[in-house]
Parts: sequence; C-alpha cells; structure tokens
Amino acid sequence: MKRTLIKHVLESDQIGGRVKVAGWVRTRRDSKGGFSFLELNDGSSFAGVQIVVPGEIENYESEILNVTIGSAVAVTGELVESPGSGQRVEIHAGNVHVYGYADPDDYPLQKKQIGFERLRELAHLRPRTNTFGAMARVRNALAYATHRFYQERDFLYLHTPMITASDAEGAGEMFQVTTLDVGAPPRVDDAVDYSQDFFGRPTFLTVSGQLEAEAYALALDRVYTFGPTFRAENSNTRRHLAEFWMIEPEVAFADLSDNADLAEAYVRYLFQYILDHCSTDLEFFNKWVDDGLLARLDSIASADFRRITYTDAVEVLSKAEVAFDYPVDWGVDLQSEHERYLTEVAFEQPLIVTDYPSDIKAFYMRRNDDGKTVAAMDVLVPGVGEIVGGSQREERHDVLYESIVAKGLPVDDYWWYLDLRRFGSVPHAGFGLGFGRIVQFATGMQNIRDAIPFPRTPNSAEF
Ligand code: 4AD
Ligand code: MG
Repeated sequence: MKRTLIKHVLESDQIGGRVKVAGWVRTRRDSKGGFSFLELNDGSSFAGVQIVVPGEIENYESEILNVTIGSAVAVTGELVESPGSGQRVEIHAGNVHVYGYADPDDYPLQKKQIGFERLRELAHLRPRTNTFGAMARVRNALAYATHRFYQERDFLYLHTPMITASDAEGAGEMFQVTTLDVGAPPRVDDAVDYSQDFFGRPTFLTVSGQLEAEAYALALDRVYTFGPTFRAENSNTRRHLAEFWMIEPEVAFADLSDNADLAEAYVRYLFQYILDHCSTDLEFFNKWVDDGLLARLDSIASADFRRITYTDAVEVLSKAEVAFDYPVDWGVDLQSEHERYLTEVAFEQPLIVTDYPSDIKAFYMRRNDDGKTVAAMDVLVPGVGEIVGGSQREERHDVLYESIVAKGLPVDDYWWYLDLRRFGSVPHAGFGLGFGRIVQFATGMQNIRDAIPFPRTPNSAEF
C-alpha cells in the first residue's frame, strides 16, 4: 500500500478508509486494557498522528512493547474520528512494521526539554525535536518564497562559483583552497610556489557571489544568487557563521533607492509568506521561544521601513542615554549594539540606513558627491541587527580603479571586474541577505547556530 504523509492524513476526510503512514515514535503509552498508543511523527507537519495499537496484533508483545521513543515504524490501519480531545483523527492499527529500534539506554532524546547548547552536540539527531523540525520547515518555506519572489519579478537565478581567486569584499577573511601538501608545499625562493597548486594560483572559498552577479546583471538586467558563502572571520557571536547561505540580487539601471525598495519588498514578502504558510510552526516558536514573534512578523510585513542616513543615525546614537561598549562618532562602523538600539529603542521598527562613510565600506560601493560617503545601505531589524547589506555599485571606471588602489587591494586581480566598467557600463545596484539571519529572525531563535542544520563556527565542524 502507498504511504501517506502524516500532514495529509491529519487533513483527510476519508474516515473509515485504510491508510499507511511511517515515521518516528515520539511517545508510547500502554493502556490497562491491553493496547497501546503511539504518537508518530514524520516531519511533514508539526503535529504527529496518534496510533491505537490493539493487543491482538501478532507482534504486539514481541515487538510493539519494545518500541520506544525514536523507534521507526510503519503502520497500516483504519482512519477513525478520535474520541480524544487532542486530535481530530487517529489510526487504528491493523499492522505495525518495526524498521528500527532506539535503545532507551542510549538514545539521547528522552527528556522533553533539552537545552539548545546540548542539542548542538547532537546536530545529527536534533531534527527529530519539535524545535528543529519547525526550524527546518520555516527555513524551507523561506527558501521557496525567495525563489517565488524573484521569479515573479523576472529575475534570473544565477549560480556563481564557490571557488574564486578574488576577494569580493576586500576584507581578507577567506578560507584558502589548495591541493598542495600544507606541511611541505613546493617553494620558489622563500615563497610557496602556487603555480603547482590545482588552479595554478592561490584560490579561496568565496565570501560573496556579487562580483560575478554584476557581470550577468550587466547583460541580463536582473539576476539573483542563492548559495553558500564562507567567511573566516573569527567572530564568535550569536549572529555569525563561517559558512552561511546568502541571496544576492543584482539589478542593472538601478540606483540606491530602487535597491532599498527591492530589499524592503523582499523582506516583507518573506514574512508574509511564512505567516500565510507556516502558522503552526510559528505559533510553536511564539509560545516556547519568543512570545513577541508573531506580533513582530506581522508588523514588519505590514508597515513601511524607515530610511535614514548613517549621519542621522550617528546623531541619534550620540544623543542616546545609554552607555555603549563602543563609543559612537562619525566615521566608526556601527556595532550590533548600535544597530539594535536604533531599531529596537529609537525607532522600534526596521530601518534602512544609507550613505555610510567610504572608509568603513567595501571598494565597489558608489562614491557620493560629498567625497566622504558611499551609496551603501544596511537593513536593520530588531533582535538581530543587520540582515541585509548592499549598495549602488561604482560604475565609473576611473573612480572604481582609484578606490581599489586606495583600499590597498591588488588592482590587477580585479581586471575583469574593471572591464565591466569599460564596456557598456551602467548604474546598477544590489544587496545580500543573510539567509541564516532571516531564519533566526523568523523563528525568534537566539543563536544563528540554531537556524541552520549543521552550523560551521570556529572550532566546530564535526558533523
Ligand atoms: O554585508 P555583507 O558582507 O555584504 C556582502 O557580502 C555584499 N557582497 C552583498 C551584496 O551587496 N551583494 O553580507 C550580506 C549579509 C549581511 O547583511 C548579513 O545578513 C549576512 O550577509 N552575513 C552573515 N551571516 C551570517 N554569518 C556571517 N558571518 C555573516 N556575514 C554577513
Ligand atoms: Mg554588511
């Protein structure tokens, strides 16, 4: 018989019909009357289905009474209305096949409440908990909504390389990729001889697909990437990962204001989408993880973001009656504490901060006429701070060249990027949204390590 996913069984009106389900047991209760209840979950929905197993089935004593939390079973039986208050329907088992037991002396997910830190050491089993099942479903919905949003707007999905020779952010925070023997690399004079490396040159895992996305936007008008990016920054914070997924749209013939409009529309679309499609999972997070979550998602989905310049933001921060760990002065980079003050205390809503000092931003951002600032933008949200970083790009060849040199970057490496400014250059703009951060925000999870299946952070890459 064909298997039905539990989420479809729970919605089914085929009372009296035969169904087959399979999944992992969450609880087993034995009744005095000589039968048992199993709660079975297959991850297709937050709720599991209740199975009533009569004592008469042939493997009841030999197998069913050895089924414990975490065991995997398949059940064939009759769908009936449930007399219990917890569920609309349940299954009266005619046959239970046990695929795999989970020895209760060893299986770690016995207790109802296990701390998130402990669960990170059980990254291979945590998908079987309520929280991580819900996280995975919300994450999936946000990914699907991302493709829908861009596809509906005629953006082309672009796959940019993960191995690269150029530092897209110019920040030097890259993991090196090599097939040389790191213990004894070939040398010429004192330097490593990279001509013998796989690519004949030093290569790295990319920090961003932006530079390649620009090449395609300057031919196909509007593109977006959605792939993994890597940063070897040693930031052991609750919002940094060494490997994270990023969505990077890039649009030709667009300026900073068009870019801010797109980012705002996208973020609001994501939240509206999960409010419409993940209500049970979000209600769980609202109840157990962050009781302001639903109200916050609702308000962000339905209200305009506020836009202010960096200069005005610094003004607000310098008047704040709070002692920041990092003092604020025009020219400093905004720290997470500043971002959160602005969006949580000063304005109590998402903000788009624009026109940052050129000294603290990447080489590719378009220089403003004041000579001091660039056409940058960050989207800040309560709880997380920056979720989007982007800019209008410097489309003027000579200004870009100067900026690369002024930042001390190896200008020869950027020859092809500069070429884009020599042939048919146009104003263009784009941004990057950190997927882990949006999942963190959408679930209310405190730590980004709990917003991705297998987090990569300093000293942690076991699974
Ligand atoms: O602000 P960032 O560094 O911008 C870029 O990479 C640009 N190339 C994007 C573009 O214009 N196409 O990173 C973009 C976003 C941040 O706003 C943040 O949400 C996320 O990526 N991010 C991280 N998320 C998790 N862990 C990290 N270490 C992150 N670094 C950035
Ligand atoms: Mg940034």
